[in-house]
Amino acid sequence: MDHVLIVDADIDSATMLRGLVASQQFSVAVAHSLRDARRQIILQTPQLIFLDSMLPDGNGFDLLSENEARLPPKLVLMTSNASLDSAVEALRMGAMDYLVKPISPSRVEFFLSGLHGDKKPHEEPEKPGRFGKMWGTSAPMKKVYEQIERVATTSITVLVTGESGTGKELVAQTVHELSSRKDMPFLAVNCGAISPNLIESEIFGHEKGSFTGAERQHQGFFERAAGGTLFLDEVTEMPLDLQVKLLRVLETGRFMRVGSTQSRQADVRVVAATNRVPEQAVAEGKLREDVFYRLNVFPIELPPLRDRLSDLPLLATHFLRDVCEQEGRAKEFSEAALNQLSLYPWPGNVRELRNAVQRAYVMAPGQLIGPEWLPVADDLTSLKAGESQRPLERRQGPEALGVLSAQSAGNTENVTEVHVPIGFTMDQAEKMLIQATLKQCLYQKERTAAVLGISLKTLYNRLKSYRANNEGVEKL
Ligand SMILES: Nc1ncnc2c1ncn2[C@@H]1O[C@H](COP(=O)(O)OP(=O)(O)O)[C@@H](O)[C@H]1O
Ligand SMILES: [Mg+2]
Repeated sequence: MDHVLIVDADIDSATMLRGLVASQQFSVAVAHSLRDARRQIILQTPQLIFLDSMLPDGNGFDLLSENEARLPPKLVLMTSNASLDSAVEALRMGAMDYLVKPISPSRVEFFLSGLHGDKKPHEEPEKPGRFGKMWGTSAPMKKVYEQIERVATTSITVLVTGESGTGKELVAQTVHELSSRKDMPFLAVNCGAISPNLIESEIFGHEKGSFTGAERQHQGFFERAAGGTLFLDEVTEMPLDLQVKLLRVLETGRFMRVGSTQSRQADVRVVAATNRVPEQAVAEGKLREDVFYRLNVFPIELPPLRDRLSDLPLLATHFLRDVCEQEGRAKEFSEAALNQLSLYPWPGNVRELRNAVQRAYVMAPGQLIGPEWLPVADDLTSLKAGESQRPLERRQGPEALGVLSAQSAGNTENVTEVHVPIGFTMDQAEKMLIQATLKQCLYQKERTAAVLGISLKTLYNRLKSYRANNEGVEKL
């Protein structure tokens, strides 16, 4: 039978907890001080500790920090004030969650049920190498998995950072799936893709007649995600005045529809993401500092794919297996192909790898896919340097290689260099480079942004401004 230790100076609340825990078929011990707790831990190692932060002979944190080896994997900190700082500190120090007193019996039961089953969906021995839908076993990814696991069972706001294509949305989904909200909606909003005029009503909803065109009442994402998780992607692209409103929901759990003065309760777990460095976005005035601190309670940083090269074969094999299943024909990578993956820097990260694998599957004629079907670093450097002498057989079909395929696709206007005469402004130079790269990338905007080293959002903004100024850019 599993053993639970309750460390609480308050006799009433300790007794209540003891009753709850015992009723769930656990053995239970109670301690009223740190000294008592240390003794109890030596007597019988608990699988779970409910630990009060304020004890007569010290702070619950002392126990957390002093002897990690002897502590159980699961520890829930109980605090009497809802101070975010102490909660965050508890999580950072290894607590799996925190409870604010007075304690809700249903939350306690939730923890205990997790302890009984000890269900960890990612620990399926027959399928190694992944955590839920996330593949990869590199050290930085293992750290990400640990962070996800730690934060998922709480309702704390999560901020996911990382370059485009590193898996930020997948992290948000995984947090949702491992949380008690998993049977409720998961909604993703790209704050950079919604027009600034509509974004407030999309997020918070509006009342009928609140603005021209608001013909009926509309529920925003905060209402539609009720009970579930709201993923705010590209959160730095949210207009600043709306960030104030976001801050209010995050702080008070309440919001108002556009055109209404009635505040509503938001039962939503927020996961936000950005491919910018958030501190930099704050410095540039794109992200309000107070919103940043509020979102950054629990940051998860996704490393670029080039910093976890050891995951490449596993990811590539996984994506290939997916296409094979879809297309109904089995193919596999040669060893040389798998080895070659690490020679390419993957500026578009996992998304680019997935696309490259799909392309290789389509292009390779035989059952074995050799290295010639995969991108190499030259594709990027030659593009930048303006010399693109790659063997022709690799460039069959417009999709074969993305950037360089323009040549064999018969694009006579193929441009691999941009000449900028002195006298041009930075803006003009930038525009020329963007247009040339866009053309070279066959108008695939994601790839273009990756090659240019800018966010997709920035690319969209530039293109929009060219269009607005009537400076024609074809094929948008
Ligand atoms: N670790 C991973 N394992 C498997 N697939 C992944 C992984 N990371 C990302 N992907 C896949 O790569 C693509 C891009 O991921 P996404 O979460 O949309 O990235 P981001 O939001 O950072 O741009 C998606 O198809 C996603 O499923
Ligand atoms: Mg994304």
